[in-house]
Amino acid sequence: MSQLVPPHCSDQVRPLLAPAAERADELRRADGLRKVPLDSRAVSDVLMLAMGAYTPLDGFMGPDDWHGACVDMKLANGVFWPIPITLPVDEDIAGGIGEAEEVALVDAEAGGILAVMEVRQKYRIDKKQEAEHVYRTADPKHPGVAKVLAQGGVNLAGPIRALSEGDYPVRYPDLYVRPAAARAMFAERGWSVVAAFQTRNPMHRSHEHLVKIAAEISDGVFIHQVLGKLKPGDIPAEVRTRAIQAMIDNYFRPATVIQAGYPIEMRYAGPREALLHALIRQNFGCSHLIVGRDHAGVGDYYGPFDAHHIFDQLWPGALACKPLKFDVTFFCRRCDGMATAKTCPHEPRHHISISGTQQREMLASGAAIPPQFSRPEVVAILREYYAGLKAAV
Ligand code: ADX
Repeated sequence: MSQLVPPHCSDQVRPLLAPAAERADELRRADGLRKVPLDSRAVSDVLMLAMGAYTPLDGFMGPDDWHGACVDMKLANGVFWPIPITLPVDEDIAGGIGEAEEVALVDAEAGGILAVMEVRQKYRIDKKQEAEHVYRTADPKHPGVAKVLAQGGVNLAGPIRALSEGDYPVRYPDLYVRPAAARAMFAERGWSVVAAFQTRNPMHRSHEHLVKIAAEISDGVFIHQVLGKLKPGDIPAEVRTRAIQAMIDNYFRPATVIQAGYPIEMRYAGPREALLHALIRQNFGCSHLIVGRDHAGVGDYYGPFDAHHIFDQLWPGALACKPLKFDVTFFCRRCDGMATAKTCPHEPRHHISISGTQQREMLASGAAIPPQFSRPEVVAILREYYAGLKAAV
């Protein structure tokens, strides 16, 4: 019998999406409310709340929860939470909103009402404090910090009721698996020990190696990719999905992996984000999260294993989803196979590992990518994408 890990501090997953039968009426009513435009990160957070990935949150955080999440990694009620989930708006928009007013949250880019929110609090934050605690840097060149510094000056807090998931379910009909559905899929397969693999990249052989080790020691692996906004230069979700499927079709037993995606927007907060990734995966029913080198990092803001160490700072009972910590993975010519820095005794000159930037350059220039680094079926899909980019310039 399947015995999945429970949702985070809750007896059940709590999606905030209104039942389908009520949405049309609610949307009509919401159209008469004051409209609050959301940037892409806030849109992503509404969608995460809508599907229940942020269980047990019921909306956007107020000042006490913001402060607790930043400084102590816990909400005012003691629940573990490593990154504040807040709704920033411009001062002039905030100024017009009355106490306990209900507003409609609108996707500023795509248009369309996503949710209604009862605004219970409006507050200002010290953005530098958030950056230093959550991102460990206030450097405006860090892409996550840049967004915090650029966001509106007032945060709105209160419960939301989601009325739409935008175009995600239509764009990704098979991949857009909500936490309750993921749990049902795992239970149907009889899985209890489920490892999640977080990724925002097409899978090369290091990724394959991590997932295969996890598959050896679990009932199955949930290959769970980012469908929200990425940095310029990252491979778009449509291409990545096909590349990952090519990897699964050719190199995995179908019964041991499930590919899915979720609407998070990367914050690139490294260690703190690794914790959020684990919390979210717990809500999806995963007992473990693969955490490799520089998980959710960017540039060299974080040490390669900071995201491992931070799990050791959690207090008992903070989080049920546990990390599967992996050292740097590569192909070793002397070992004649994939290995990690933990097991391979040979010098780095025998190792084949290519950085993301190098790989992008090789794909763009048409240079051969060694099969020890990336599977040819995956490279073929990436090449096609890069050829299209080149033709479009
Ligand atoms: S991200 O969310 O961490 O940004 P990415 O796709 O880059 O996603 O990596 C997915 C997972 O694989 C992360 O846990 C990361 O630490 C791990 N990883 C990627 N490449 C390696 C590698 N060469 N060695 C060890 N772990 C790796």
